[in-house]
Amino acid sequence: MSYLVLARKWRPGNFDDIVGQEHVTRTLKNAIEAERVAHAYLFTGARGVGKTSAARILAKALNCEKGPTTDPCNECTHCREIAKGSCVDVHEIDGASNTSVDDIRDLKEGINYLPSTCRKKVYIIDEVHMLSTNAFNALLKTLEEPPSHVIFIFATTEPHKIPGTILSRCQRFDFKRIPVKLIFEQLKTIAGKENIGITEKGLMLIAREADGGMRDAQSLLDQVVSFSGDTITDSDIIDVLGIIDRTLIHDAVSAVIEKNSPACLEIVERLFLYGWDIKEFGKELLEYFRDLAVVKATEGGNGLVNATDDELETMKRIVLSLGAADLHLYFDVMSRGMEDMARSLHPKIALEMLLLKLSTLGSLRNIDELIDMARKGRSFPEKEEPHLPPMKAEEQAPQTVHQPVSLAEPETPYVREEEPHKESEKTWKGFVDFVTNKKAVLGSILQRAHLVSFGDDEIAIAPDNDFSREKVSDEEPQLKELSALYFGKEKTFKVNKLDTAAGELNSLHEDKKKRESDHSRKLKKEAMEHPRVIEALDIFKGEIKEIRTDLSFNE
Ligand SMILES: Nc1ncnc2c1ncn2[C@@H]1O[C@H](COP(=O)(O)OP(=O)(O)OP(=O)(O)O)[C@@H](O)[C@H]1O
Ligand SMILES: [Mg+2]
Ligand SMILES: [Zn+2]
Repeated sequence: MSYLVLARKWRPGNFDDIVGQEHVTRTLKNAIEAERVAHAYLFTGARGVGKTSAARILAKALNCEKGPTTDPCNECTHCREIAKGSCVDVHEIDGASNTSVDDIRDLKEGINYLPSTCRKKVYIIDEVHMLSTNAFNALLKTLEEPPSHVIFIFATTEPHKIPGTILSRCQRFDFKRIPVKLIFEQLKTIAGKENIGITEKGLMLIAREADGGMRDAQSLLDQVVSFSGDTITDSDIIDVLGIIDRTLIHDAVSAVIEKNSPACLEIVERLFLYGWDIKEFGKELLEYFRDLAVVKATEGGNGLVNATDDELETMKRIVLSLGAADLHLYFDVMSRGMEDMARSLHPKIALEMLLLKLSTLGSLRNIDELIDMARKGRSFPEKEEPHLPPMKAEEQAPQTVHQPVSLAEPETPYVREEEPHKESEKTWKGFVDFVTNKKAVLGSILQRAHLVSFGDDEIAIAPDNDFSREKVSDEEPQLKELSALYFGKEKTFKVNKLDTAAGELNSLHEDKKKRESDHSRKLKKEAMEHPRVIEALDIFKGEIKEIRTDLSFNE
């Protein structure tokens, strides 16, 4: 297989075959359908993203014997000649080698003749920015009032070099770099159809390397095929493309997270021995930390991470043991380290130090996470790394500013001891809970009612409004039954007016409110006096802005 073969063989034949440029193809199709095709187009965008392909498809669409159509047949004489570049009415001109006024003059003469067999004469001028100023000026006249049988399609990678007078006479389409994922999928299709044995990881390596250009991706695939034959190993790709092995990136990230300093140094050594570019490695590592942060933030990547499914799974596993704050910290330190590395005369040493620094960063814990743990009554260890091997004492990170501000103490004040509920003790509160479980509305009325008296045979209550009073009276038979179930003995219910009970006991509801606020006050006090908090305030020279307490206060 030779160079360019794949790119030629896989040139899109129809608008729908063009990958990742829907904003262009949809508009062109609409224009054809509505018979409102412009007389001059400018296609801009990076190399190998589909400009020439789109221009040829437009030429075919207008001239297909079964058209004009949005879907040229690719079989008729016109379609086939246009695809081959041999159609007399479709001119492909290389702006780079036809830059003179004379060239444009020839072109202008030709324009006045009607097409010989096609409907439209199409002039595709590639690299149009290479035309001389005079050539542009000569072109300008034609662009102002072109014959109706002529269409110009200009293509360029450098639109800023085109004079404004030309730009303003064209309808412009900016072709985008193609997302890695789409390139990957296209390569996968091609590899499948061409029987090329290559792993998804390998295809992803190529797709990433192509930097948004489909032609580049296909050429790279050609290159590795001609190196390895029909079965391509990942290490072939790494060798041929001279790219950094993702395994090494992954190993480095693991070493950092596991706080394994010796492994960090060993990886830099390996990198150096392979002769890989240290700064390039730094860039990839930075990107990996970015990807991890994105996976964490989006709970799975959300299409924003260029990775194979396997890689994505690995990333998801890694971020389980890390908080968002950790990831941001890694990224920050990494990106500052990269700047140092760029300036350093010894990038290798700079990278070693950077990895060491990263591997000794303390684990930051998100405050909500802490509160959540406290709420669940779990005592949290200094560092919790469920997926990593336990650390040896001598590997413990030295104390740095980034060390966790952990609120962990053997006995956490945030956990409220549950008072053991004695079965034998049958209280008003117990009864109200019992009723609430069975009859929510009635229960909530009882909770807000004031208890006037609580006797062996009779309970007197004062509900807090007329409606509730009526409801309790109506439901008395029900309450009696429930009391028999709960107390083992039926009680009668006496309903008082609230004012007769004024100054009496609080309702359960009021009691609870009061206890909640006492509880919250107590917690706030404890938090402010907590030694770790005092220490943290001292280290960061901070002040307490807000203390949030557990809102779901449970009895
Ligand atoms: N969007 C795309 N979808 C599918 N294949 C594409 C796409 N873009 C490029 N290709 C592949 O790359 C080859 C070259 O594309 P094309 O000539 O259209 O690129 P271009 O944008 O004109 O590039 P240049 O600026 O270098 O002229 C095509 O034959 C095709 O195989
Ligand atoms: Mg082109
Ligand atoms: Zn056709």
